[in-house]
Amino acid sequence: MGTILVTGSLGQIGTELVTLISQKYGKSRIIASDVRVPEHDVFSGVETIKLDVSDSTAVHSAIRDNSITEIFHMAGILSALGERNPDLAFRVNALGTFNVLEAGIKEGVNKVVIPSTIGVFGPETPKDNVPVVTVTRPTTMYGVTKVTAELLSSYYRRKFGLDVRGVRYPGIISYKTPPSAGTTDYAVDMYYHAVAGKKYTCYLKQDTVLPMMYMPDALDSLIKIYEAPANKLRYTIEYNLSAFSFDPMTLHKSISKIIPDFRVDYKPDYRQEIADTWPRTLDTRAAVEDWGFSPRYDLDSMSRDMVKNLREMHVSV
Ligand code: SER
Repeated sequence: MGTILVTGSLGQIGTELVTLISQKYGKSRIIASDVRVPEHDVFSGVETIKLDVSDSTAVHSAIRDNSITEIFHMAGILSALGERNPDLAFRVNALGTFNVLEAGIKEGVNKVVIPSTIGVFGPETPKDNVPVVTVTRPTTMYGVTKVTAELLSSYYRRKFGLDVRGVRYPGIISYKTPPSAGTTDYAVDMYYHAVAGKKYTCYLKQDTVLPMMYMPDALDSLIKIYEAPANKLRYTIEYNLSAFSFDPMTLHKSISKIIPDFRVDYKPDYRQEIADTWPRTLDTRAAVEDWGFSPRYDLDSMSRDMVKNLREMHVSV
């Protein structure tokens, strides 16, 4: 039993992942790192360190000094923020992943888990039932850097035998850490506005269908692939994941079943152009067959759970 490093631990997925794995594998086995220093003891006793993944020396030291044997590399700049800051996206997503993989082999790490994304797809990718191996020629910096991360991961696995594994996440919906940097985050924002009793102005058109998933299923999937026997994995970090696909209008309808007077209008901005290059639906069979992907939430059960939790948190916008 070694020590697990989580990068990007204050991000949308990292925050919940640290809590989950510290309960599952023991607090003393986890080191939560992020480029930001947490203001308080966010992870109740889990050791936290400051780490900028784009700094190669710092990544090597963090792994060596803490005797790290496994890494969840969750640090990443999402699509909308990446389009506004392409240099930052390159440094964190491409260089950061290179640093983690390179340090992984040099420092003797046993396993690295890296999330990829639907952002690797582009305008030439088919729109529906997209297979794992397909055209991946994205037009966003986010996509370019995540395709790089996919190719680097496969390269390090094949060439150096490093155990790298991961999934292509769709839009992830959650209530604990409000996201703000992705194109799919309108969905989270819509729930916040609905519960706060406000009208929501959506930055995507009402009929923009994208693949999505609720956070408990996203976390469960990451643990499943992390624990899967290596010889069962046909792919590296390219496993397509999606629990369902919907457009903003359908999400509005689902929320309206619980909050009938909730109003939404539409004012597409630059994020529409990003969303227009992504597929509507994905073929997730490889994940089901190789490591038992089995999401539990559908759209309406997710809506009920989101609204219940946001109400308990008394959210405002
Ligand atoms: N949620 C991501 C984004 O919108 C896609 O994986 O950037």
